[in-house]
Amino acid sequence: MRTPLIAGNWKMNGSFEDTNVLLASIEDGLERRAEAAEGKARKVDVLVCPPFVYLETAARAIEDSDIALGAQSVSAEKPGAFTGEICSHMLKDLTCSYVIVGHSERRQLYGETDTTVGKKFKAAAEAGLKPILCVGESLEEREAGKAIDVIKRQIDAVMDIACEKCFENAVIAYEPVWAIGTGETATPEQAQEIHAEIRQMIAARSGKIAKKIRILYGGSVKPANAADIFAMEDIDGGLIGGASLKAEDFLAIIDAA
Ligand code: PGA
Repeated sequence: MRTPLIAGNWKMNGSFEDTNVLLASIEDGLERRAEAAEGKARKVDVLVCPPFVYLETAARAIEDSDIALGAQSVSAEKPGAFTGEICSHMLKDLTCSYVIVGHSERRQLYGETDTTVGKKFKAAAEAGLKPILCVGESLEEREAGKAIDVIKRQIDAVMDIACEKCFENAVIAYEPVWAIGTGETATPEQAQEIHAEIRQMIAARSGKIAKKIRILYGGSVKPANAADIFAMEDIDGGLIGGASLKAEDFLAIIDAA
């Protein structure tokens, strides 16, 4: 049985105050949820990924809770002359346990290639972080019937660079680019179809990892659509952008898992 993971990707949003207020509300909501369920609620792993500069504030805010901390990107390099970059061991210093790699915004706006993403994934996993590898097709690619090919290329590139062991604690997030921040969501069936394919791709290398790896769906997940999406067999939670910035919405999405 895979424990669902609900991850909030805050992107480039927030302030010191917002970070503290949002996390206090999430913590509070989770406590109330646990009390109300009297130990009977399904276990859900909760993760927040604030911008780098708020990681330390967030780490302090959640230190007495079960909420995990992650970053939104990481350098593929070890410490050295890489102006403006942040490496895995710095994220570990900040008590991060997860890091998002290959988000479509990094690929599209900052020129990250499959190879860059593979190197980042490997560096993060080898440092003991749990990488969340984002994959997904654009609208054009979907319409051309190439969604699976694109995702396979993205996953194969990482598998060629990182060893099988690097996938042991990894997470994959399927995020169709056309659904991110657009209000458009893949239907639960569309998402399930891709998730099952992704699990097959992993199974081709390791059946054991394929069974246990969590595959999240991301792209306009909201309280109103979360339960239907998470009900699908191969969907193990969500990577939540916009809705993770509102405690009430994020908590409702956690409940839906
Ligand atoms: P969204 O973003 O939920 O705002 O669509 C998801 C993501 O980009 O991770």
